[in-house]
Amino acid sequence: PPPHCFHPPRLSLTDGGSAWRDWARTPLWRRAVVLRAAAQQLRDHAEFLAGFLVQEVAKPAKDARSEILRSADLIDYTAEEGVRLLAQGQLLASDAFQGADRTKLCLASPVPLGVVLCIPPFNYPVNLACSKIAPALIAGNAVVLKPPSQGALSGVLMARCFQLAGLPDGLLNVVTGRGREIGDYLVEHPGVNCISFTGGNTGLAIARRAAMVPLQMELGGKDACVVCADADLDLAASAVVKGGFSYSGQRCTAVKVVLVEEPVADALVAKVCEQIAQLTVGMPEDNASIVPVVDAKSADFIEGLVRDAEGKGAQLLQEWRREDNLIWPLLLDRVTKDMRLAWEEPFGPVVPVIRIQAAEEGVAHCNESRFGLQGCVFTRDINRALALSSAMETGTVQINAAPARGPDHFPFQGMRDSGIGSQGVTNSIKMMFKTKTTVLNLPQPNYTLG
Ligand code: G3H
Repeated sequence: PPPHCFHPPRLSLTDGGSAWRDWARTPLWRRAVVLRAAAQQLRDHAEFLAGFLVQEVAKPAKDARSEILRSADLIDYTAEEGVRLLAQGQLLASDAFQGADRTKLCLASPVPLGVVLCIPPFNYPVNLACSKIAPALIAGNAVVLKPPSQGALSGVLMARCFQLAGLPDGLLNVVTGRGREIGDYLVEHPGVNCISFTGGNTGLAIARRAAMVPLQMELGGKDACVVCADADLDLAASAVVKGGFSYSGQRCTAVKVVLVEEPVADALVAKVCEQIAQLTVGMPEDNASIVPVVDAKSADFIEGLVRDAEGKGAQLLQEWRREDNLIWPLLLDRVTKDMRLAWEEPFGPVVPVIRIQAAEEGVAHCNESRFGLQGCVFTRDINRALALSSAMETGTVQINAAPARGPDHFPFQGMRDSGIGSQGVTNSIKMMFKTKTTVLNLPQPNYTLG
């Protein structure tokens, strides 16, 4: 067993597990009942769990609470969607194929994959765990959850809610430890039949190590906000501030670069600065808008990006200020393509502005990035919005709003290095099963059922 595995999985990973086989035979409606009960347990323990998110990952208290409640809603939706989706199969007759008689009927139906390894990130240790666990369970799988090191207690307590809900033993197994110590062991384990991962560049290493298992991954993003000269600038400014600075920018869907058409750049920047001045900076317990970033290494990385941009001539519109991991919100104007901030994701409360001649230039910048998660476009011209959306090579384009994953049943996916597969409740359930076919060979050609 790997070191630091203080709660070894009850499921035997060496034989691919067995708990899921009983679970797969459990009627679908009963699986849904257990999931709904887990959702209720989360609601009942919302304050308690939120307290852990505040302490472990410095999530502002109100956001922590909404993460728990959002997770409960996601589980409920998954139970309902799973019942509808997994109830369906397909009947195919052989004579639809060129030259064939009706000598065979094929019954296709969903079967579980087996054991799903779920690895959520520190910024949503509960919600992005539930978005993997619930689809895996409703489809009849067992789960091994490897929570983030910061966020592990929240993960363990969230898993306890499933236990309190009556989930049979062996179906949700929590293995804590540092990714660099236990990650390879889990990812390469032959008992794992699917990996669902959310995080950064580690995903690329996982993809190289994992063998013959389906992968669902949401990795980094450099979500661009393209602002056209005809945009509602108040709306765009609010989206930049909410999208760029909420939870100190530690969201893969945060606005990570603003590309604004020159004629309105001064006005937009002024409006954004006005709103930044209203943001409170402090501790998550006090519901500050800007809270400390997750660790010193992240804070150092963010500072490195800012220093690089400053050295190359970017204009800092607020004073650079940092106390340990707490970084004050910062907008950098006149960022250029030779600066790291134009391409790298700070995952912090720092937003670069690039001035452009036309929105198409902004879309081209977005498409040049190795990331392609989301992007957004602000314009009053719906035809322009649709044309820009169609040109923007990202998994999602938001028109006149900041990037966001939710509502949680919307398809959510990244292009290029931003991910593999698609999420959102329905797509996640579809990730978690295979199709099994049984072929009935008929006693005589052209036999009909009716
Ligand atoms: O950090 C990655 C999350 O998938 C972003 O989710 O848009 O709901 O904050 P969000």
